[in-house]
Amino acid sequence: MNPMRRLIAGLPSQLRWAADLEPPRVDAAAEALVLGMGGSAFAGSVAALVAEAAGRRVVVHRSYGLPLWAAAARPLVVAVSYSGGTKETLDALEQARSAGLPLAMVGGGGELAALAAAGGRPMVQVCAPPPPRSAAGCLAGAVLRVFEAAGLVPPQAAGLREAADVVERLVGEGTGPAVALADDLAAALDHRVAVVYGAEGVGALAAYRWKTQINENAKAIAYCSSLPELDHNEIEAWSTYPGISRDRIGVVWLRDPSDDARLARRSDVTRDLLAGRVGLAGEVHAQGEGLLARLFSLVVIGDLVSVSLAERAGVDPMAVEMIASLKERLAGEGL
Ligand code: PA5
Repeated sequence: MNPMRRLIAGLPSQLRWAADLEPPRVDAAAEALVLGMGGSAFAGSVAALVAEAAGRRVVVHRSYGLPLWAAAARPLVVAVSYSGGTKETLDALEQARSAGLPLAMVGGGGELAALAAAGGRPMVQVCAPPPPRSAAGCLAGAVLRVFEAAGLVPPQAAGLREAADVVERLVGEGTGPAVALADDLAAALDHRVAVVYGAEGVGALAAYRWKTQINENAKAIAYCSSLPELDHNEIEAWSTYPGISRDRIGVVWLRDPSDDARLARRSDVTRDLLAGRVGLAGEVHAQGEGLLARLFSLVVIGDLVSVSLAERAGVDPMAVEMIASLKERLAGEGL
């Protein structure tokens, strides 16, 4: 079995690890700012979605520095970096430290862990083997448990366990029903640019994860957009080059049964309007009751699609040579 498939099959145990985690001690907070890039930032986006559903504001910052509002608003700052060495995240963290903001860290070690230890800051050390994008269950679960400790979200253990059960049913030991579904979707997307659509909330975040996983694992271009925004611009874009729209692009719709009824109706009508104009690769429906189960049920199928696409293309889903060489070149300049 491709090692990446084995890592994907490990997602339920990551979610259970997070459910069993003893959350670190952090002060109560009214809002949070998550610092992170790539796979680590995704963990922040998952936690932000859960916090928003609980009525709390969480912003995910994916760059150097800090947003200007942070110094005055004084949010809880949670720096997430699997490697612990991502320059943008460390720079933002240093600025948060200088501004005296409350800090917590989530990661696998490196400079981030050293800074946490030196400053006596709360840190959750994640459990999963590399690469960072395969540690989504640990990273997101750990950020959520930090949020829980800060009073930003209600207790998370039950939601994490439900997500683990749903993903386990879908993937099993790597032979569950999601595997065949993902292989079929990958066959439909083969040699096409994947465009993944979902409605704001669970669908949109899952669509973003599909895009980034296809980028990194399959080394292929993919895009995502969300409803209702795409109804105000992107639906016009399928007409001018019909050959490309139908033959070179594959659209996947991610549907969440808990979508607001107005968004669900928009998805149906938009899909109808685009029928025949776009290469439709398929539609995937979220499973489970809670937000985390619904989200990770879509995420895991996207992860499997990305590996299946990598296998079809004969590329190694584990390797990220471009990212590694870019980091290496910029490290010489302190970036
Ligand atoms: O999935 C990946 O490998 C990347 O997207 C990384 O997550 C990203 O480069 C940031 O690295 P880290 O997660 O170690 O901070």
